[in-house]
Amino acid sequence: MSNTPAIYLDNFVKEYRTGFFRKRIRVVKGLSLRVEQGEIFGFLGPNGAGKTSTIKVLVGLSHPTAGRVDIFGAPVGNIQAKNRIGFLPEHPYFYGYLTGYEFLNFYARLFGIPRAKRSARIERLIEQVGISHAQDTPLRKYSKGMIQRVGIAQALLNDPDLVILDEPMSGLDPIGRKDVRDIILGLKENGKTVFFSSHILQDVEMICDRVAILNKGELLKVGPLEGLLEQSASQDVEVTISNVDNDAIEKYAAMADMIRHVEQKITLHLPDKDLQKIINQVFQDGAHIDSVIRHKDTLEDLFVRQVFGTQSEKAPAKDNDDNDDSAENEDSSESASS
Ligand SMILES: Nc1ncnc2c1ncn2[C@@H]1O[C@H](COP(=O)(O)OP(=O)(O)O)[C@@H](O)[C@H]1O
Ligand SMILES: [Mg+2]
Repeated sequence: MSNTPAIYLDNFVKEYRTGFFRKRIRVVKGLSLRVEQGEIFGFLGPNGAGKTSTIKVLVGLSHPTAGRVDIFGAPVGNIQAKNRIGFLPEHPYFYGYLTGYEFLNFYARLFGIPRAKRSARIERLIEQVGISHAQDTPLRKYSKGMIQRVGIAQALLNDPDLVILDEPMSGLDPIGRKDVRDIILGLKENGKTVFFSSHILQDVEMICDRVAILNKGELLKVGPLEGLLEQSASQDVEVTISNVDNDAIEKYAAMADMIRHVEQKITLHLPDKDLQKIINQVFQDGAHIDSVIRHKDTLEDLFVRQVFGTQSEKAPAKDNDDNDDSAENEDSSESASS
């Protein structure tokens, strides 16, 4: 496997012309991104962010307005590159009267897979995506989850090196989502590169090597998930202490933010690094630690903060301690009391 990235975008711009006056709207505003071979890459962003517009260009269904877009080192649209891509569209269209098997066979012929190989390949895929029991059922009787599976099987028919899935988990129940996650992980095990878009964050959080967060056509963040979370994680803890003497309370208030105080019981909010100091104090005072809660960011938090941080002043920006103590304290005391 070479170092050539599976996907390379440099200052990629996508504009559409709309309305009577053919006014230009810019929906992707200079996106630069590298997806390495063998990665599971999550392309995240709220609806309207420009994910599908980007994906359509990657798979050659629409043209970039400006910038460079390469697939395995070749300019997008290059036929060799195209042959290495498998694609599941956001809203796949299926002929409802075909059975799952017939549908895949139809596409296998379209892809020019030789007759001798076709049935073995189709059967293997049907098994891989878990629709063996329904292979002879017409697609119109398939559930959304089954449709998604047969769509993924279709995307894998030409044994692609790069699998691009547009919202593969949308509309699926938790079990269906887990199944899709497992299929994606299986692809990675087989050496494939998987690039998929989603606005459902939990799904991405569990399986992606790296993610990019897109909002309004602009890249907000890109990186390994762990790194992203650590970078912006609020490394804070909330400690609840009971049996605190009245005269000791002042002392704690000087060491940390006091967010609750009910009789002998206090709740403090402090940076992780100050925790030991507090514990020592509690020990000295003969007080008692009821609980220590770590505020670990989830991708959801990160996403909300990134997205709302750029488009609204109202959303709390946690990186500035001075300004939003009150907001944070409100949050914390709410969660503490619930
Ligand atoms: N063919 C089109 N013509 C005009 N505007 C479009 C077209 N396709 C998408 N858009 C607009 O581009 C923006 C990004 O859409 P899209 O790429 O579908 O976002 P996402 O997939 O992240 O939800 C949206 O504002 C959408 O309305
Ligand atoms: Mg979309």
